[in-house]
Amino acid sequence: MADLILTGASRGIGHALALALAEKPADRLILVARDRARLEALAADIERKGGRAIAVPGDLSSRAGARALGQRLADTVTPGATLVHNAGLWPSKRELTSEGLETAFVVNHLAPLEMQQPLLESGRLRRIMVVSAGLIIKGRFDAARTPTGEDFSSIRTYCDTKLCFALAMRDVAAAHPELDVVVLHPGVVRTELGARKGPMGWLLSLVKRGWEAPEVCAARLARILARERWSPAGEARWLVEEREQPWPAVAEDEATRRAVRETTARLLAAV
Ligand SMILES: NC(=O)c1ccc[n+]([C@@H]2O[C@H](COP(=O)([O-])OP(=O)(O)OC[C@H]3O[C@@H](n4cnc5c(N)ncnc54)[C@H](OP(=O)(O)O)[C@@H]3O)[C@@H](O)[C@H]2O)c1
Repeated sequence: MADLILTGASRGIGHALALALAEKPADRLILVARDRARLEALAADIERKGGRAIAVPGDLSSRAGARALGQRLADTVTPGATLVHNAGLWPSKRELTSEGLETAFVVNHLAPLEMQQPLLESGRLRRIMVVSAGLIIKGRFDAARTPTGEDFSSIRTYCDTKLCFALAMRDVAAAHPELDVVVLHPGVVRTELGARKGPMGWLLSLVKRGWEAPEVCAARLARILARERWSPAGEARWLVEEREQPWPAVAEDEATRRAVRETTARLLAAV
């Protein structure tokens, strides 16, 4: 038996992935998101399909919440666990957390690192999958403005924050050669990601009709999860759907990598 922690399990890709993995009862699914009722209903569905699942509700929009969630997960998982970072936010407007940081920067980057820390310290993780986004190629990181969203734009902030986390996880892979780490673009998927009110929201929902169903993406991620190995020790490889690709140029840029590394370390150190 192995545990698989799946964040963002209440909706969209994560919900579909949890159901796809229910058919593999060897794993216990640990379902994470804010919506407790949806997680509990999903856990019950998984049990009905012969799988095993528990709901661990938690909020990634505050660093303190993320730390507490990480500690709860570290106390729950058994050794050899897989962590799938899937929760994500495409923000429609600039909103700050109680700590004065831009919310997507926290949900997509800083909080998953906070949550992950107690799990790394527990030594119970075997591998980590990061559901990132192909749009990281459009990411630019401004150390002075991105964390507080002073350079906010809906698309740019999504790209920037997904890029930050992908880069941080490359560093985690280098610092933890005992882990198998992969970062991937999951596909273009018809979910509620980025849903908004007004004409833009209506337009987006029309465009999304042509996108693939979450179940198609979930089957793809389940196939990747079934692989024996994702990356060489000390590295995180980049997959676009199921194909390994060279890291995009922006993710190889040393100045960007250093800026993300130093800013992230400074923010994480400031409790
Ligand atoms: N859809 C696409 O085409 C696409 C393309 C590229 C990458 N991705 C990535 O795929 C991942 C899943 O996206 P999706 O399309 O399935 O989006 P979605 O339908 O909007 O689902 C997002 C999930 O994240 C959780 N979440 C959001 N804010 C949270 C918070 N503060 N704390 C804890 N959990 C939170 C949500 O749960 P609660 O609301 O219950 O908390 C939900 O389960 C994201 O990382 C996204 O960036 C998606």
